[in-house]
Amino acid sequence: MTLRHRIAAVAGGAVAVTVLAAAAVVFIAVRSELRGQIDTALRARAAQFVTGPDPDHDRGRICSRDANGNVEHSFPQPPSGNDDLRFGGAEGYAQVVCPDGTVVRATGATASLPVSARAREIARRGAGEDVSDLTVRGTSLRVLTLRARGSGALQVARPLTEADNELERILVVLAVVAAAGIALAAGLGALVARTALAPVSDFTRRSEALARDPDVTERMAVRGDDELARLARSFNTTLDALERSVDAQRHLVADASHELRTPIASLRANIQTLDEADRLPPADRAALRADIVAELDELTALVGDVVELARGSKRARVLDDVRLDRIVEALVERARARAVGPTDVRLALEPTVVRGEPDRLERAVSNLLDNAIKWSPPGGVVELELRDGTLSVRDHGPGFDAADLPHVFERFFRADRARGMPGSGLGLAIVRQAAEAHGGRVEAANAAGGGALMRVRFGP
Ligand SMILES: Nc1ncnc2c1ncn2[C@@H]1O[C@H](COP(=O)(O)OP(=O)(O)OP(=O)(O)O)[C@@H](O)[C@H]1O
Ligand SMILES: [Mg+2]
Repeated sequence: MTLRHRIAAVAGGAVAVTVLAAAAVVFIAVRSELRGQIDTALRARAAQFVTGPDPDHDRGRICSRDANGNVEHSFPQPPSGNDDLRFGGAEGYAQVVCPDGTVVRATGATASLPVSARAREIARRGAGEDVSDLTVRGTSLRVLTLRARGSGALQVARPLTEADNELERILVVLAVVAAAGIALAAGLGALVARTALAPVSDFTRRSEALARDPDVTERMAVRGDDELARLARSFNTTLDALERSVDAQRHLVADASHELRTPIASLRANIQTLDEADRLPPADRAALRADIVAELDELTALVGDVVELARGSKRARVLDDVRLDRIVEALVERARARAVGPTDVRLALEPTVVRGEPDRLERAVSNLLDNAIKWSPPGGVVELELRDGTLSVRDHGPGFDAADLPHVFERFFRADRARGMPGSGLGLAIVRQAAEAHGGRVEAANAAGGGALMRVRFGP
């Protein structure tokens, strides 16, 4: 079921339910109004029996027995003389139920009413009142039973035929009106759905066109300030992010292929020299081989760095609680074992737990330590301090040129004086990406007493 059909159904359904409810209320109101009229008429008629134009006639006498022990067979009815008794036959339906259950009919009564238990009780007790519907020989009647003057109960009845006919007519009219209302509701529902969804269809068409011919520089047109405009804006924000990400990947690939060219060319030159290795003295040959192996190592490291950078600064789905201080200790241990230069590394580490990815954290710390050792003068001191979640790495090397500071975290950035050193300029870019992936940040600065000071946090 499409959204359009759903909206049409809900809107149409709501109107249809309202129409039906209104029709039901009207029907019930009319019905009770008609019944009320009949009941009023019945009471008026009954009053005539009690205080009718024949005051001498004591109706209490009706039930008294004559000398032979018989009750009267009938009693005269007072003329109704009342035009508002619209439902005919009133004259014919009146009877008195004596306390002993004997029924005495009015003179000229055309039918007799069956006596219910309730009517008998009213007759016996000479108290109470009852109004009920009754069907006598196929005619439905409204019967009022109330205490007669003297003794027994007086019952007056009126046929419901006319009232029922009237109700039937009203029901037909209501049914026609309701049917027309429902048809109108269905039409309106369809119209509402079409009007409400027209901009959505337009939006869908445009986004489908975009999906068919993906171009991250395209944007949805934002019209007005309604919900759809907001949707379009957030769609565009997504496209912005996508464009940035696609651009970043494209640049990384371009930079990487550019940077790979030099080591590959040098490797190729060395391998070509290897062809003539027979003519080289054994020592040169060994040096050449060592060169090739070193170049291959460098190339491998570079490819690894590029792959690492391609991960972007997106947070991992699964994170561990990692002891950052232990990672730092282990890396320093490894550096000491490799004994790269006579560097003295001093540690002041607080136990620190970071929620993150151990391999990324290790790689970032390792890059900072490598730089510090690489730039330390022989016998220089490298100080590592971990306090309040911030790791500071300080060396006593030349520090950064002020002009380089804004660029040191860029990919492939290397200061002029770094040209003679190993490295590709990806180390600090990887550190920044790892810090950001953990919701943290990294800063580069020159320390007060000279040398570089790097500060990194892997968390907010
Ligand atoms: N501790 C430091 N002292 C002085 N300069 C530094 C220091 N750390 C980094 N730099 C400067 O910042 C540049 C970028 O550093 P980065 O670690 O990104 O690259 P790299 O060390 O040259 O190469 P890689 O780390 O990829 O092997 C370096 O080339 C260097 O000029
Ligand atoms: Mg580095």
